Amino acid sequence: MKTVARRRQAGRGAGRRTAARTAAPAFLPHRLRLRVDGVWREVELAGAESLLDLLHQRLGVWRGAVEPLGDCTGACAVLLDGVAVPACRVNALEVAEREVTTPWAVGPGAGLLPGLREAMSRFGTPQCGRCLPGMLVTAAAYLAKIRNPTEEELRGALADHRCECAAFGPILQALFNAGVERRGLRPDALSGQARGPGAAGGGTT
Ligand code: FES
Repeated sequence: MKTVARRRQAGRGAGRRTAARTAAPAFLPHRLRLRVDGVWREVELAGAESLLDLLHQRLGVWRGAVEPLGDCTGACAVLLDGVAVPACRVNALEVAEREVTTPWAVGPGAGLLPGLREAMSRFGTPQCGRCLPGMLVTAAAYLAKIRNPTEEELRGALADHRCECAAFGPILQALFNAGVERRGLRPDALSGQARGPGAAGGGTT
């Protein structure tokens, strides 16, 4: 009897040990500070979440598309310390004490690509515009570093972006021309670089 009781006790102990091993690690509430479009914000994370969730659900500053998890088209791109990243793929814990810039801080109103609005109407307005904020952020970051890219180079910088409305070509042209005009160059002065509207869509459509 004693042996059976000892075995039962040992079994119960083993069960407890297994349960302890398989339990999900507890997420400790974590307070973090980040700068969003020039304003310092503080939030408390109660669980794992993405930077996109943080901007959209907690801070209410995200005005663009929120795509299903795992189906990122690049529309959620933001600048993290000046580097374009898809916000849905960044763990919110990674942004503590860092600078996040949303598309609405780099858009036409912010003066980074002042000719963009006009270029957009010249090359054709995107159909739904969902992809535009992300492409704008990526293009603006790229144009800030590379002063005179070719259209092909800008297309390469936007390779992770997808336009579901097959408007990638006109959007690329508008971004390229707005970037060129910002530097006071006429697009057709860049021999072999600027092309007419209707150039083939990029690595994505
Ligand atoms: S214009 Fe609709 S996704 Fe690009």
